[in-house]
Parts: sequence; C-alpha cells; structure tokens
Amino acid sequence: MEHMNENAEEEWNRAQDAKEFEFMRDNPPPVLDACCGSRMMWFDKQDERALFIDRRRERIEMKPDKSYPSGCVIDVAPDMQLDFTCLPFSNSAFSLVVFDPPHLQREEAKGCLTYKYGVLNGDWRAMLRDGFAECFRVLRPEGVLIFKWAETEVPLREILALTDEKPLFGHKSGKQMGTHWVTFIKVPKVGADKTANAE
Ligand SMILES: C[S@@+](CC[C@H](N)C(=O)[O-])C[C@H]1O[C@@H](n2cnc3c(N)ncnc32)[C@H](O)[C@@H]1O
Repeated sequence: MEHMNENAEEEWNRAQDAKEFEFMRDNPPPVLDACCGSRMMWFDKQDERALFIDRRRERIEMKPDKSYPSGCVIDVAPDMQLDFTCLPFSNSAFSLVVFDPPHLQREEAKGCLTYKYGVLNGDWRAMLRDGFAECFRVLRPEGVLIFKWAETEVPLREILALTDEKPLFGHKSGKQMGTHWVTFIKVPKVGADKTANAE
C-alpha cells in the first residue's frame, strides 16, 4: 500500500513535470539562451525575459587550481535541460537567441575553466553546425542572434564557416582580445517566404 502511494506520487510528479515542460515549450519568453552554463554573462541571472537551457544540470565545488587560485562553485541550473542541436520549440519562437557554445578542446584539464565553459569533443563541428541551424530555425524573421566565441584554440573564421548566415558586425573583448561577440540578423529567404505564403 505504502509502495502504491509512492508510485502514485512519482507518477503525479512526472505528470506535473511533463505539463511544466509543455507549458515552457509552448509559451516561451522572447529570449533564448541556448547554452546558459552558470549564466555568468547575465546582469540578472533570473531575467524573466529569457529561457535558459543547457544540456547539463550540475553543481560543482572545485578546489583551487592554476586558473582559479581561490577555487570556484559552478551551478548549472537551466530552466529546461536540452540539447541545442535538437530543440523542441516551433519555428520563429524567439526574438533573440544567444549562442555561446564551448570553445575548449582540452579534455584533460578538468578544472574550473572546463566546468564553467564545457568542452568540445567528438564531431564538434557537426554539433556547432546543427546548433547554428537550430538557433536560426527557432529565431523569428528579423530576429537577432548573438554569438560568442573565444579564439583560444579555434579561429573564429573556421566557426563562422559552419553557418550560411552572414554576420553583421562584431566586437572583440576578453583576455588578449580573443573573445568575439558577433551579431546576426535572420533575413527571411526568398524561397522560404513563398513557401510560407503558400501554406
Ligand atoms: C561557454 S559555456 C556557456 C557560458 C554561459 N554563456 C555563461 O554566461 O555562463 C557553454 C555551455 O554549453 C553547454 N553545452 C555544450 N553542448 C551543448 C549542447 N549540445 N546543447 C546544450 N548545451 C550545450 C555546456 O554545458 C556549457 O554550459
């Protein structure tokens, strides 16, 4: 009997989670952070105008290392745990998407830096290509995509080649000016317009 109650409670919780997931998927705010990590870049980490997603959910307390002599706490708590290569949102769901994927390939150094920013592994070029495609799919026509890339290991031009979309302008910042902020606008494709009108 006790077990039945526990099962019923678990099932009820699962149903609530599913409802909450569907609600967030179908009624998103105007901004999508496609891989939020611990939201370091945000002025307000609980900004309600944005939906924060990431493929991981974890809290890590790290001992001091070379890059972070005082240690660090990394809390990755996305609103939805999702993969940016396969998003559940409808086309044109967001007005602005921010895309700040991992830029480090070094797996060996499991320090604060790699926990904060994640690492690129496997066929990461295909992952970033699919990520760009998904971010543009869920962006509304004339919506803006902000892309961030640190050139520590891979030059920006190699990454921009992974999307057909043409950047508007950018800005360099960060250590030795190696971090780029690049702005795109989604310009509706002529063929795509015709199809949309025909529907
Ligand atoms: C550079 S960090 C983002 C840092 C974040 N902008 C901030 O301000 O803290 C990159 C994040 O991408 C996430 N990530 C990597 N691959 C992903 C994927 N396929 N889908 C969703 N998130 C992914 C990692 O877990 C990591 O948290």
